[in-house]
Amino acid sequence: MGHNILALATKNPNNIFVGIDPFINGVANLVHTCVEEKISNILLYPTPVEKFFQDFPKIICDQIYILFPDPWPKKKHHKRRLVKANFILAILDKLKTKGKIFFATDNQDYFEKVSIELKELISNKAPMKIIKKEPKYLENTKYFKRANKLGNKVQFLVIVKI
Ligand SMILES: C[S@@+](CC[C@H](N)C(=O)[O-])C[C@H]1O[C@@H](n2cnc3c(N)ncnc32)[C@H](O)[C@@H]1O
Repeated sequence: MGHNILALATKNPNNIFVGIDPFINGVANLVHTCVEEKISNILLYPTPVEKFFQDFPKIICDQIYILFPDPWPKKKHHKRRLVKANFILAILDKLKTKGKIFFATDNQDYFEKVSIELKELISNKAPMKIIKKEPKYLENTKYFKRANKLGNKVQFLVIVKI
């Protein structure tokens, strides 16, 4: 539904925000809201994020938000998960120094696997650190509400490029 990017774009009118998700209904919904509310600092790219960075190799970001990526809860699908060591290194390369990556999930197994992979990357001298676990400034989006309704704890990771 784009609640978080809408809030970020509204609060920070001098910054440009790029929303990337191949789910076309969600993108269409956000385009509609941007037109209605005359929001002009959101760019939308309806493809997988990997393709976005291939298509725009020179883009460098201040912040990257990965909120509730598809959890693939079945074990046989875990290899399809987006956030893994190689992906983290690839997007770290797309961040400014001191730039941040925000990751949120209500899937405990996903959170634990990402935490372990991050610690391994850090111990192998990847240029990043984990600063805190609970950002206060994320919107209460559809998937935050869904997690609460299901009684799932939302877990956060905030990574800083050093
Ligand atoms: C559970 S929804 C969460 C949507 C949104 N991030 C939010 O928090 O409201 C998961 C989304 O991840 C998107 N997704 C899965 N793999 C992706 C990828 N490689 N690149 C971009 N988006 C992806 C799916 O299309 C889906 O819309």
